[in-house]
Amino acid sequence: MNARERWNTLIENELAAYLSDARIPRQLAEAMAYSVTAGGKRLRPRMLLAACDMLHGDVARALPLACAVEMIHTYSLIHDDLPCMDNDDYRRGKLTNHKVYGEGFAVLAGDGLLSYAVEIMLDAAIHDAADQAAYLRALDAIIKGAGVHGMVAGQACDLMNEKQPSREEKTLRYIHENKTGAMLRAAVCAGGYAAGGAETDIGALNAFGAAYGLLFQITDDILDVEGDFARMGKTIGKDAGTEKLTYVSLFGLETAREKAEAAAREAHAALAAFGERAAFFHELTDRTLTRKS
Ligand code: IPE
Ligand code: IPE
Ligand code: MG
Ligand code: MG
Ligand code: MG
Repeated sequence: MNARERWNTLIENELAAYLSDARIPRQLAEAMAYSVTAGGKRLRPRMLLAACDMLHGDVARALPLACAVEMIHTYSLIHDDLPCMDNDDYRRGKLTNHKVYGEGFAVLAGDGLLSYAVEIMLDAAIHDAADQAAYLRALDAIIKGAGVHGMVAGQACDLMNEKQPSREEKTLRYIHENKTGAMLRAAVCAGGYAAGGAETDIGALNAFGAAYGLLFQITDDILDVEGDFARMGKTIGKDAGTEKLTYVSLFGLETAREKAEAAAREAHAALAAFGERAAFFHELTDRTLTRKS
């Protein structure tokens, strides 16, 4: 098993262990586990572990952070799909959480995943004697990325700009950098912090995460138009139906592709200082530019 396969196994096993905690009410645990184990790409936790490894950190020590990031991401998807938000019926190739468990439980499954993630990170920080300050910085990056300075702020702006006549690139960039970029940025920075990375390393990871985040959401917008349900695991054509402000609605497919390419170039450039150790992130950037899922 190579290092990357080992990371995947660590993430899956640890997530399963957290979700099988017998103290969680059965139906709540089931609703949480349904979405977490539905078949996500595990992009953010893998990026967190890869950043930690790139800076010679202890991947096992960063594992609770990686699982927490995936739980927070999954919560954001459950809530994003609710009828009061994007109203989606499919996610990760399965019926959305509220379609199976009802809206009340879908809200609570999301709330549960977010607060459990914080609990897991704090537990690890309290018991991590090696370098508590570094661990707390990682935790801080993740929570800021998730909340009113990150993902939640972006989602709010996304909703406010549905069906609006004024459509500016500045607003669109804000939405993408926050609703999607903030958690990706947080994941790589948290991995860097957990490894005890220097501020210059964290700065480079932050720049990479920002560019990669933009790339990732531009390609998500493109795939909402020309993607395939079977590969994406979610309904295609939703953004046009709800008149979302996206790179495709503002610029058209061709310019959106050019902007994705520009973001990919920026992402590659941000990795320069890491040399060959950044191979994982260079490959990921290339694959994201041409992704179909
Ligand atoms: C979906 O994220 C939501 C966006 C930020 C566009 P992913 O495409 O990483 O979803 P999963 O985790 O693989 O389901
Ligand atoms: C949502 O963006 C990003 C999140 C914070 C969940 P989208 O609404 O475009 O994500 P999808 O297309 O539903 O996955
Ligand atoms: Mg949305
Ligand atoms: Mg959505
Ligand atoms: Mg989308």
